[in-house]
Amino acid sequence: MSEPIARGYAGGKIILFGEHAVVHGQPAIAVPLTSIRAEAEVYPGAGDYRVVLPELGREFRFLQPHEGSENGLIVTSRMVLEKLGQPEPNLMLSLRSTIPQKSGFGSGAAVSAAIGRALSAALGMPLSDDELNNIVYEVEKMHHGTPSGIDNTVICYEKPIYFVRGQQIEFIKIARPIHLLVANLPHSTPTKVTVSDVRFLYEKHPRRVGRIFNRIGNISRDARQAIEAGNVDALGPMMNENHRLLKRLTVSDEVMDRLCRLALRAGARGAKMSGGGRGGNIIVLIDKQQRGFLSDVLLKNGASQVFHSVLGAQ
Ligand code: PMV
Repeated sequence: MSEPIARGYAGGKIILFGEHAVVHGQPAIAVPLTSIRAEAEVYPGAGDYRVVLPELGREFRFLQPHEGSENGLIVTSRMVLEKLGQPEPNLMLSLRSTIPQKSGFGSGAAVSAAIGRALSAALGMPLSDDELNNIVYEVEKMHHGTPSGIDNTVICYEKPIYFVRGQQIEFIKIARPIHLLVANLPHSTPTKVTVSDVRFLYEKHPRRVGRIFNRIGNISRDARQAIEAGNVDALGPMMNENHRLLKRLTVSDEVMDRLCRLALRAGARGAKMSGGGRGGNIIVLIDKQQRGFLSDVLLKNGASQVFHSVLGAQ
């Protein structure tokens, strides 16, 4: 194939602290995960606009609004074109991704962001991060119902963020490298389901669940200070406590609890589930030299993939 006219990329993400409570107004911390990413390449079209997924052997055309409404790839493309005031272009957009789907790594938001970047660049009108973020948030709403906006924000800006719903985004500085193992699990539950279960629990027990949200919010605040002060050691106990609170919100499960427990028993500094929960992924805080050994522990006990991620590495 000829050289692409334009390219667009976007990486994955993980939530360090505050998931679920963030939907209810508490702060959360998320970081980009650039070792996995979605890539979109744009080529001249064959008379119309298409999004092609070569790895899956699928393609989607630019349908009439009502017909295309379920397909996030076409919806994203349509929103980008609307924003730029452009008609259907004669382009073919080829999309690949190494981000595991439905695993809490923000795969959907990353794919939308990569499309937005590639398509707007191909038309010579690259979107700003703010414009892209607004579009990706709209697409996220379609997939997740009531997203807090944390996924699209960390992915579009590709920086560690301290996020409070509806407030100005705050970027955070990681003062000392943080070594994490991110273990992807073979099972997952749609974020929409766990978010709605937590909402139901909150409606049923507002005082008790409200207190859990507050405690999670306090952990995010403390964790921000520790991250910015380079106090990595303090983060382990905060992760463990955040995990216990998520368990009380019913969004952890036996597999996640067991993996966190085994990692801690094997010497990890801290461990918690990350993202929507009941599957997806867990994150484990380690010392650099524990990487090989602890990865093996996770892989032997049910993780399907383990990434080593160094946050704040220059
Ligand atoms: O999409 P996930 O699995 O990374 O979870 C998103 C985080 C939640 O707080 C559970 C939902 C949200 O919209 O913030």
